Amino acid sequence: MRLEDNLAKILIPSDRLQARIYELGAQVSRDYGDLRPLLVCVLKGGVMFLSDLSRAMNIPHELDFMAISSYGGKRVESSGVVRIILDLTSNIENRHVLVVEDIVDTGHTLNYMVDILNTRNPASLKICALLNKPARRDKDIQLDYVGFDIPNEFVVGYGLDFDELYRNLPYIGVLKPEMYS
Ligand code: PRP
Repeated sequence: MRLEDNLAKILIPSDRLQARIYELGAQVSRDYGDLRPLLVCVLKGGVMFLSDLSRAMNIPHELDFMAISSYGGKRVESSGVVRIILDLTSNIENRHVLVVEDIVDTGHTLNYMVDILNTRNPASLKICALLNKPARRDKDIQLDYVGFDIPNEFVVGYGLDFDELYRNLPYIGVLKPEMYS
């Protein structure tokens, strides 16, 4: 099976993705300087972005990982109920935390994460999202860094999955509607 055959189109090709991530890395590096930020990757989708963003940064920083799941799982629609399935290994008290997400859709995942992380008293807490889908937002969330605003289409690739596949594609593609309807 060729995953590419299930795509309606490529929304963001690899070279545009990488160019934008390079810019974000430079901007984050300028903003944080010597603050030694802790980049928190939201698994699994955020892993490709975290790895490229980290390599686009030229300041000392640390990495950590967290996994949050929609309760009962989700394929196309978020249930709106989320829980921690893997917690950080770092103590974030008085640390400058930058949450790195692949996509903000309804905002439930980040809303939950921000609430939890804020109870741990970080020195600062900011969000860096590669993709922002404003049409689907339920929760009002301040995004400090955004790679691309995208239309309300079912996107896969570069960390984003459908039924756990497509994460390895080096670009963002739009899934053919017949794949999920
Ligand atoms: C996706 C994505 C975000 C979240 C965004 O994760 O990686 O974390 O959904 O959706 P929301 O704004 O509506 O909450 P998913 O739960 O599919 O898990 P995954 O990253 O492991 O694929």
